[in-house]
Amino acid sequence: MSEWVVVDAVDAIAQGTSTVVDVDDVMVAVFNINGDFFAVEDVCSHDGGEIASGCVKGYELECPRHGARFNIKTGEVLCAPAYEDLETFPIRIVNNTVQVRDHRWD
Ligand code: FES
Repeated sequence: MSEWVVVDAVDAIAQGTSTVVDVDDVMVAVFNINGDFFAVEDVCSHDGGEIASGCVKGYELECPRHGARFNIKTGEVLCAPAYEDLETFPIRIVNNTVQVRDHRWD
């Protein structure tokens, strides 16, 4: 089972912002949306660009390169030019820190 990785303190990731963390050599973008945290792989399924700097509206994340949109909660692709979902990762809050892990190694 993969280890939980500390992203940052809960208060360090303000609402409406994100941060990127290295989880076992996988770059993971962690978003704070209205106080809830969500994690997706920081790789757009369209052309492999980073996606953490994309525009967030509600629970939708728009890729900064070509405008594909994804549901941050589920990773589901919502519009072209991407046709595959984003990988999502489990989040937990422990001792006021945000933690994430790559469950694909379980
Ligand atoms: S790399 Fe994200 S839409 Fe093209």
